[in-house]
Order: sequence, then structure tokens, then C-alpha cells
Amino acid sequence: MKRIGVVGLGLIGSRHARVVLDHPGAELAAVIDPDAGLRAGYDAPGFGDLADVDVPLDGVILATPSALHADHACVALARGWPCIVEKPLASDLAGADRIVAAQAETGLPVLTGHHRRYHNSVQELRDMVQGGAIGTAVMATDIWGMKKPDPYFDTWRKGADGSPVMINMVHDIDTLRFVLGDVAEVQAMGGACLRGADRVESGILALRFANGAVASIAFSDNTPSPWGFEAGTGENFNIATTGQDMLFITGTKGAVSFPSLTLWRGATDWSQAPTPQVQQAAPTVPLVAQLTHFLAVIDGTEPPLIDARDARETLAVTLAAQAALERQMGVA
Ligand SMILES: NC(=O)c1ccc[n+]([C@@H]2O[C@H](COP(=O)([O-])OP(=O)(O)OC[C@H]3O[C@@H](n4cnc5c(N)ncnc54)[C@H](O)[C@@H]3O)[C@@H](O)[C@H]2O)c1
Repeated sequence: MKRIGVVGLGLIGSRHARVVLDHPGAELAAVIDPDAGLRAGYDAPGFGDLADVDVPLDGVILATPSALHADHACVALARGWPCIVEKPLASDLAGADRIVAAQAETGLPVLTGHHRRYHNSVQELRDMVQGGAIGTAVMATDIWGMKKPDPYFDTWRKGADGSPVMINMVHDIDTLRFVLGDVAEVQAMGGACLRGADRVESGILALRFANGAVASIAFSDNTPSPWGFEAGTGENFNIATTGQDMLFITGTKGAVSFPSLTLWRGATDWSQAPTPQVQQAAPTVPLVAQLTHFLAVIDGTEPPLIDARDARETLAVTLAAQAALERQMGVA
């Protein structure tokens, strides 16, 4: 049994704590949050500050506001604790570089909470695309259109930190990086701020990958559409499931849509219609799969699926997109 501490008991931290409690290989050995009321909800030693923890731990999950990730990861690594740092790895590249340096200095593993990589369906998509099932990848279209309820923004998400680029598109960008490889260039165009808040809420990102493929991501957190990763996969009980495809990738020999993993092949040019074939991937509970992987990483039996250096690259693309939107729209 690995003794795991969960730091930050809010929206995602409470889910991590539940996953740790239910996991046969882990014990919830500490909960850390300045909110005593949240700590009281767990039958585990509670602390208001990471520095005050005085129980032995084998690893920690950092689910604090993004601006605190770098400080908390450095404290945890200095204490000898491997970490999962929630995404984004940090709120800026300087913070990400501090985590990468601390990881290198201590030799301890740092996973980043890009949990989508743990879906069997995402791994199958990657295998199909990188294994040549659609030939050479040419282009991709990704849609994320969700309506967030207003109270969601009555927190640290009120200002620029509430941009769906930093909170949500970081996942879409990471998924595309996982499937299509490194991003060479990103451009962005913002949509209207219909909520009237000084914050990005919708737009289009254009990505060019090092291998020559291109992708667009159309996003909004102000539209109740059926299309988005969580709605398509049903991975998050806070977001209603529609089961609709939201990512479409084409190549020189065919195309695939996700999450249905419908592979379209057999056409040599536009005079022929390709035929569909649905691939199967066993459903995954990604936070559980991520924790199982973390326990193996702590044991040294598996290498990190996404370490701090890899997550730093996803963050760099995401920050570049956010900066481009802020410049273009004149918003925070
Ligand atoms: N992987 C995912 O799908 C996913 C989903 C949601 C959020 N996140 C990420 O997780 C992080 C937290 O987001 P959230 O939505 O849960 O936020 P939240 O505001 O709901 O929760 C943050 C918690 O951290 C606590 N906290 C603040 N300062 C602290 C400190 N110094 N030490 C310990 N705890 C402290 C707060 O009291 C709060 O309970 C963010 O980085 C966010 O981007 C990831």
C-alpha cells in the first residue's frame, strides 16, 4: 500500500481523494487544504499547509490552483515525494522550468495530470495514427463547445486564469500532441466575450505540427453543445455525456473520428466513398488508471507516461495560444 497525500480538496482534488480511497494499492495518508471544512470530510490526517505535513508519504497529488503548482511541486520534491501535478504543469514557463529542474535534481518522478492519455481509446487512436492506419496524417479538427455555469467563475477562475485555453484547451492540445507529435507553430483567433467578462471564452486555435500535419481547435465555454472530449467520452460526471465524436483526423489513406474510433478507408480519390469500420477500446476510468500508473512509477516499474518536461511543451503551446488571444482581443 502506497501512502498518498492529496493537496487541494476542491473540484478535482476531491475526486483524486475519492480515487485514492477506493484504490486497493493506495492509502489516503494525508489531506492538505487551508479550508478546515474540506479537510474534515476525510478520515485522514489533515494539514492546512504542505510544509506542516509530519506523516510519512510515498507520493502526493497536487490539485491546488495552477499558480501554486511550481512552489508546491518544489516543496514536495524537496521532501522526497514523487508527485502528480495537476494540469497545467504551472501557470508560466518559469514555474514549469523550476519543476523540471527540481525533477532533474532530485531524480524523483513527476507526472502531470493530463489524464486523457490514460484512456484506452486515446491510446488506440495514437496507435492507429502513428501506426499508419490512415497513411500520413494530414489534418485534424477538434471541437470543444461546453456551457460552464456562472458560479464556476466566482473563484480564482474569475480573471485570466479562468480562460478555457489554460483550463481546458491545454487538454485538447496535449491530446493532439500525444497523437500527432510536437507542435511547431500555433496561431489563434478569439471570439466575442458574450458574458461581458474580461476573459477569453471562445476562439479558434490553429496548430502546425513538426511532421507537417495541421489542426484546428474550435472552443467555447459559453455554448451548450454536444461536442467536446468529456461529453464524447463520458469521463467526467460533472459533464453530461452525449457520446458524440469531437475529433476528426484525416490522412493520405483514410480518416478516423474520435471517440467512436470510426476508421474510414478504401477510397483512392473523391470519386469513391470511404467505408467506415468501428474499432473497439475498453472503457477506462482515467483518474483510476492514472493513479495505478503513479503507483507503478513510484515503484520504478513503469516510466512516466507524461513527465514534467513533456508537460512543459504542452504548456508552452498553450501559453503561446493564450498570449496570442489576449493580444488580439485586448483582454486578460
Ligand atoms: N485534470 C483535470 O481534468 C482537471 C480538472 C479540474 C481542475 N484541474 C486542475 O486542478 C487544479 C485545481 O483546480 P480545481 O478546479 O480543483 O480548483 P478548486 O478551486 O476547486 O480547488 C482548489 C483547492 O486548493 C485549495 N488550496 C488553495 N491554496 C492551497 C494551499 N496553499 N495548499 C493546499 N490547498 C490549497 C483550495 O482551498 C481549494 O480547495 C488547477 O490547476 C486546475 O487546472 C484539472
